[in-house]
Order: sequence, then structure tokens, then C-alpha cells
Amino acid sequence: MTKVNTALSIGELKLANPVMVASGTFGFGEEYADLMDVNALGAVVTKGVSLEARRGNPPPRTIETPAGMLNSVGLENPGVEVFLRDKLPWLRKIKPAVIVNIFGSTIEEYGRLAQRLDGQEGIDALEVNISCPNVKQGGIAFGSDADLAYQVSAHVAKSCHLPVLVKCSPNVTDLVAIAKRVADAGVAGLTLINTLRGMAIDYRTGRPMLGNGIGGLSGPAIRPVAIRAVFEVCAAVDLPVVGCGGIVQWQDAVEFMRAGACAVQVGSATFRNPKTANGVLAGMTAFAAEQGLHSTQSLMVTAHAKSVPTGDRKEPGA
Ligand code: SIN
Repeated sequence: MTKVNTALSIGELKLANPVMVASGTFGFGEEYADLMDVNALGAVVTKGVSLEARRGNPPPRTIETPAGMLNSVGLENPGVEVFLRDKLPWLRKIKPAVIVNIFGSTIEEYGRLAQRLDGQEGIDALEVNISCPNVKQGGIAFGSDADLAYQVSAHVAKSCHLPVLVKCSPNVTDLVAIAKRVADAGVAGLTLINTLRGMAIDYRTGRPMLGNGIGGLSGPAIRPVAIRAVFEVCAAVDLPVVGCGGIVQWQDAVEFMRAGACAVQVGSATFRNPKTANGVLAGMTAFAAEQGLHSTQSLMVTAHAKSVPTGDRKEPGA
């Protein structure tokens, strides 16, 4: 069986493998320590952190849908100081890279957060959330305008020495145009995609089922949208892309890499089966070996190529 190298770099961010867990689906990591092999992940992306603590949106905050779930958590988090004091010490001890997802109401707040997290032992990168559909200020307001998306991204990149990923929203008319602007902001890569705006109404009462009315849809239902987004952005923008949206099994993750993603994030599938991300890495690696590939990165971009690349394949008889 071919030995498969799973390592990769996204700018200065070094990962042992391309399988991460998505922000908001994995708490601050410790919650899952007894439920799956955290140390087998490429990276843990934390729940979004803001300067001040946030109480989040009124319940109910999650609703199961036929092929996924709706959430409207509203970025509840304990604030950056509590994160540094109570959550980071555990994260420092794990093997995977630690990527802190950050969120602000103004461009200045994003910058102040990046400065506060910069240089903290145990933090390997930031993921800038400009795509949350569940808050009035910040979030998607920054991610749906190319100039604002550029300004936030550039300000965060200048405010710290950490590699920066920017998590973009699918709830826009032209994601490629936004990705192109963000690519000029000095960031390391993009995370595509956050949730799609959605809603559920109780047919008996006529009332919205989420406390906040509208929420974000995740799960297998959105995977074709995410694959299309990754495919189109990778064709147009020369920046590493982390694919996210509806991954349930390893084949889904390989599909993202075929679309051009260099890494993937497992999101709401973790709620149903906490070991999903572990299974995705094992399956992807075994598939690469079966294909005679020497690295999981060789699974990338074949959907863009006219023919399947052969450079990494074993020659017959080799
Ligand atoms: C939330 O906390 O409301 C979800 C986070 C997000 O969609 O970015």
C-alpha cells in the first residue's frame, strides 16, 4: 500500500492533515475530548470569539431539517479574556493546529481582537467570521460587500502576525468578486462556506420555530452549493481554500478537494457522530493510497483539469 503524506501548509499555517472541525460545531475542543480522537485532527477551529462576552439569541436556537439543521445561536461566547484564561490552556496541550474564529461589530473591533490574540502561545491562526447570518451588526454585513470584506480582512492581517483565513458567506450574489477582493488583503486563505439563510415555521401556530426567526442552514443539503462555491472561487482566485458545508463521510471531503479545496472542515455532522472527522481522514487517506497517490494534497483540483494529473501516480512496475 502506498504511504500517504497528509501534511500541508496554508501560508505559514502548518497542518498535519487536511481535516479540521468547523467553528461553532466543536465548542473550544475540550467538550469533545472523550468523544473522539481530537489529536488526529488537522486543526480545531474554535467557536467564534468576540472582545466582550455575548449572550447570543433567544431559544430555540437549533432545529433539525430533512437534510441538515438550522441554527441561530447568535455567536454566544465568553469573550476573549475568558477564552485566553479558561479555554486556551487546554488547547495549548493538543497536537492539532488551533485556529481561533473571531467576530466583531466594527472593523476596529476585529483589529483589536487580532492584536489581543497575536503572540499568544498555542494559537496558530485566526479565522475571520464575516459571514454569520444570525447577528444584526457585523457578521454577514461585512461579508456581503466586497470593499468591506477587503477592509476587515486587510485590517486583521495587518493587526497580527498570524496566518488569517476569511470565512465567507454563500448568501451573496457574487462570491467570486468578494473572494477576489479578499485575496488582495494579505490573508493566507479562505474558508468556504458558512451557512445559508433559512427558516422553519410551525404549521400549527404559524410562528417561526427559531427564537430569532431566521437562521443558518447547514448539513448535507448545502453541500452542492458549497462545492460550487469552492469550484468557482478556486478557478478564479489564487489563494488556498478550505471547503466546508455538508461533509458527512470521506467521499464528501474528497469531492471538496476535487473542486480545489486544500483542506476541509467537518461541521454539523459532528453533532450526530462526534467521530465523523476521524473517519473522514481515515477514509480519505486510504482512498489516496488505493489510488497510488503519495499525498492527500494530490486529491486536489482534478475537476479543473482536462485530465486527471498523473505526476504523483506510480508508474506501472515502479
Ligand atoms: C451563530 O453563532 O449564530 C453561528 C455562527 C455563524 O454562523 O457564523
